[in-house]
Amino acid sequence: MLVLGIESSCDETGVALYDTEHGLLAHQLHTQMAMHAEYGGVVPELASRDHIRRAIPLTEACLADAGKTLADLDAIAYTQGPGLGGALMVGASMANALAFGLNIPVIPVHHLEGHLLSPLLADPKPEFPFLALLVSGGHTQLMAVRGVGDYEILGETVDDAAGEAFDKTAKLLGLPYPGGPLLSKLAESGSPDRFTLPRPMLHSGNLDMSFSGLKTAVLTMTKQVEAEHGEIDEQTRMDICRAFQEAIVEVLVKKSLAAMKQAGMKRLVVAGGVGANKQLRAALNDAAALKRFEVFYPPLALCTDNGAMIAFAGAMRVKYAEQPGSFSIKPRWDLSSLPAV
Ligand code: KG4
Ligand code: ZN
Repeated sequence: MLVLGIESSCDETGVALYDTEHGLLAHQLHTQMAMHAEYGGVVPELASRDHIRRAIPLTEACLADAGKTLADLDAIAYTQGPGLGGALMVGASMANALAFGLNIPVIPVHHLEGHLLSPLLADPKPEFPFLALLVSGGHTQLMAVRGVGDYEILGETVDDAAGEAFDKTAKLLGLPYPGGPLLSKLAESGSPDRFTLPRPMLHSGNLDMSFSGLKTAVLTMTKQVEAEHGEIDEQTRMDICRAFQEAIVEVLVKKSLAAMKQAGMKRLVVAGGVGANKQLRAALNDAAALKRFEVFYPPLALCTDNGAMIAFAGAMRVKYAEQPGSFSIKPRWDLSSLPAV
């Protein structure tokens, strides 16, 4: 079965072809980062308009890469939510129009389920059940995953998501949008010993997390350093980035270990944009070697938003395929409300 996947929930247009027998055949991505950078964040109306411009050429490129035509498609999966309303409408209406014309079904996909299942596109891939650490721009959750659609949230952030904390902290350090990956790059050249930031909710006794205080702690630290030494130099900025990253990584690793213990799991799966973070991966790999558990990540290119995870999650959910035509989007949508497969 050949599934076309379309992702358009935020600032990336992703299209992919997943074959249930032969795996991922092709995927194409256009990121709007440069377009939004001028405004310091995502401008929803510009995002929608750009998805409209990109979606069809990306689909054509994808089909050409895989040596397929529209007539070869068996179903079209699209991100139904959560995300920006206008942006979601672009992918949803294109998927439905195309499927209507081709007389094939559509499969609405939950964006976070796409992230969550994306490590299954790696080799080796994890078996169910596993403990998932989902760390994206909008969500930070620890979940017991027992099968497709069987998700139990064990803990989550009570305020900012980890990716959001990276981006907001980067902004207040004067880094251009989107700051998360750049902050992380600077942290690589920072000293781990010069500054220490708090580890929020590390000893809260549950699996919840909080990251918004960390951003405020960075602001306070920056002001203190400026008051003592004048304008922040490059090395100091890198040292602050390092202290911030050390704090987030320690909290994510310790909470993941506690969640695995609580759920009795020996497999950890990391998904979402922050899963691309090198220091987080290194710390989790060390913990896995020490405590003898397995850890899995999506292929690096599939950590952030992409069409491959939507095509794949759609293929896992063919049972819920629908006739195209009347459709809705779900800008807000709780992952644990999904039916099991
Ligand atoms: O999963 P994703 O692509 O989008 C959402 O569904 O939210 O995640 C994007 C988030 C952004 O906040 C971005 O700053 C963060 O992932 N991110 C990173 C890194 N790469 C992306 N954060 C830390 N280190 C990275 N290397
Ligand atoms: Zn995402």
